[in-house]
Amino acid sequence: MATDDTTYRWVKDGALGPGRMRYGADYNPEQWPREVWDEDVRLMREAGVNVVSLGIFSWALLEPRPGEWDFGWLDDVMGLLHENGIDVDLATATASPPPWLAKRHPEILPVTIDGTTLWPGSRQHWRPTSPVFREYALRLTRALAERYADHPALVAWHISNELGCHNLYDFSDDAARAFRVWLQDRYASLDALNEAWGTAFWSQHYEEWDEILPPRAAPTQRNPGQQLDFERFSSDAVRDHLRAENAVLAEVTPDVPRTTNFMVAQNVRDIDYASWLYDVDFVSNDHYLRPGELGRDDLSFWANLTGNLAGGRPWFLMEHATSAVNWRAVNPPKRPGELVRDALTHVGHGADAVCYFQWRQSRAGGERYHSGMVPHAGADSRVFRDVVDLGAQLQALAPVTGTRREKARVGLVFDYESWWVSGRDSHPSESPAYDDETLLWYRALLDLGVRVDVVPIAADLHEYEVVIAPMLHVVPAALRDRLTAFVSAGGHLVTTYFSGVVNENDHVWLGGYPGALRDLLGVTVEEFAPMLPGETTALSSGTVVRDWAERISRVEADVEILDTYRDGDLAGAPAVTRRQGGRASGTGSASGSATYVSAAVGREGARALLQRLAADVEALAGDARAADGAVEVIVRADERGRYLFLANRTDDAVTVAASGELIGGAATSDGATTTIEPRGVAVVADGLSVRS
Ligand code: GAL
Repeated sequence: MATDDTTYRWVKDGALGPGRMRYGADYNPEQWPREVWDEDVRLMREAGVNVVSLGIFSWALLEPRPGEWDFGWLDDVMGLLHENGIDVDLATATASPPPWLAKRHPEILPVTIDGTTLWPGSRQHWRPTSPVFREYALRLTRALAERYADHPALVAWHISNELGCHNLYDFSDDAARAFRVWLQDRYASLDALNEAWGTAFWSQHYEEWDEILPPRAAPTQRNPGQQLDFERFSSDAVRDHLRAENAVLAEVTPDVPRTTNFMVAQNVRDIDYASWLYDVDFVSNDHYLRPGELGRDDLSFWANLTGNLAGGRPWFLMEHATSAVNWRAVNPPKRPGELVRDALTHVGHGADAVCYFQWRQSRAGGERYHSGMVPHAGADSRVFRDVVDLGAQLQALAPVTGTRREKARVGLVFDYESWWVSGRDSHPSESPAYDDETLLWYRALLDLGVRVDVVPIAADLHEYEVVIAPMLHVVPAALRDRLTAFVSAGGHLVTTYFSGVVNENDHVWLGGYPGALRDLLGVTVEEFAPMLPGETTALSSGTVVRDWAERISRVEADVEILDTYRDGDLAGAPAVTRRQGGRASGTGSASGSATYVSAAVGREGARALLQRLAADVEALAGDARAADGAVEVIVRADERGRYLFLANRTDDAVTVAASGELIGGAATSDGATTTIEPRGVAVVADGLSVRS
């Protein structure tokens, strides 16, 4: 659960240690005859692969019958990999239970919101809260840990796989029981729960704990507090499973670092990874490129957030795709240059490992059309040639490993609870969506060449000169105080419509919107004015507004109106406002400001506003090397070296004034300038000496 803690600490340092860039994939040798394994390791060596994740979906082969182990084949693979200098991130193999377990214990199967049981035949068909599943999973974890504790190939444990990807929301009776325990812990009394959930509404008052259920399918709108707590609970429930496996591994192999692959991206939005950080020794993440025009920036956004969740420390890109995935409606291949570009963009944002799903493209099963490092066509293919090329490039980037993302002066807040709650049903409008809105502000910053950190809400905001917090919908009192203190201390805050509206229980702050932020911003909104699909309105500056507007009925005397509505019912009303020094302007010392954007102004409107603010907020002035937004400038550094990752956001070659030594990427340098190929990333050692 997101907290209001102002301090934001981090886990153990660089678990895998600097020295070389890790390169590899999920490896599923059990899908192939033995002779293919020899070709696999030969090609892995050719590509420079030095780590694989093994055994992720191997439970049924490792424990073919209850309590009977067959480790022979895994011993062989581990041995073969080790002989060839390839390390293993060994899975606990618990992600997909074997058929015998579901047959013997159907009570482990998850249940959907409408009561449908999710049967075996796919994967992740287990309840995070099932004590029966937990027992079997921990037995397997222990057996693996004991067998491979001293294996020389073992470098890390891969706990389960993408926890909660398909089974996060389980509405079973096990979940109901665990939910009640979680609620008792949170609220202690039913009075407190009734108050938090607003159960006076629609006759929902609870008298006994066992009356409480997960928010199962109901005749109409479900209780928002119950939904929010179920989201928090579900995120915590899969984390409990992580902790349980973690504890076994910590007991048997205390010195082997442990991770689980996060999904810090929009395919699964409902896990609060900011609260999982203490449960892993190093952060690892999976990312799949969104096809189309915004894909590159979207990748950068999530990589940026992952890097900041990792506290700026190096992290592990556990999965991405060499080319197409198989699970969207249409799955285009990657365009030339994108395979390397995507990998190096992740590296720029702090990844010290670049891994794929998966090594060899499957020939059978649900993922047979998902790309791999070795495609169906074999090694004589564009994809494999790119894979080999990338391997060589990563080797040359060894000096970068161990360095940190260099902090930016601007922070863009990403708040999981605002994401969950703002997207709830029974709201003034279904659009725009929280993640689209935050991405749009990120893109506007990149367009202006402004380097930015995407940070979780618990981050120390005082580290930034500017904080952008789009649609910060959930603002508990403590967060309001943090934001107020930030502005009072001279920080510049920009926030947008539908912010500050509710507290941590999804109760509306009274007295007018933006609720908790009303005093800080100095504006009062009486009514939201969402717009019908296709409708537009304009601001006096010419900015076009779609989807959302608000009626600001009152502005305090010290609030400057930066823009007004030009058309329609809101014509003449303030649309964008700014209060210098926030509420504390009277104190004399503050030079900060609090800007409110009451309308969905889109990427162009955001860009125009930021440009305007840049006139007196220097941190918003773009980097010249960004070439008017054509290039994203990312920096990794430590006391011995500083590395610029110049990512070409366009389909044309771009030349920038970057004079350091070019140490990698698709680019050329003449000593004074660097020319980056279309969709390329140049890696330049900037100023200080390159580490050896
Ligand atoms: C991930 C998963 C992998 C594979 C991949 C395909 O969610 O961890 O096992 O299924 O997606 O894109």
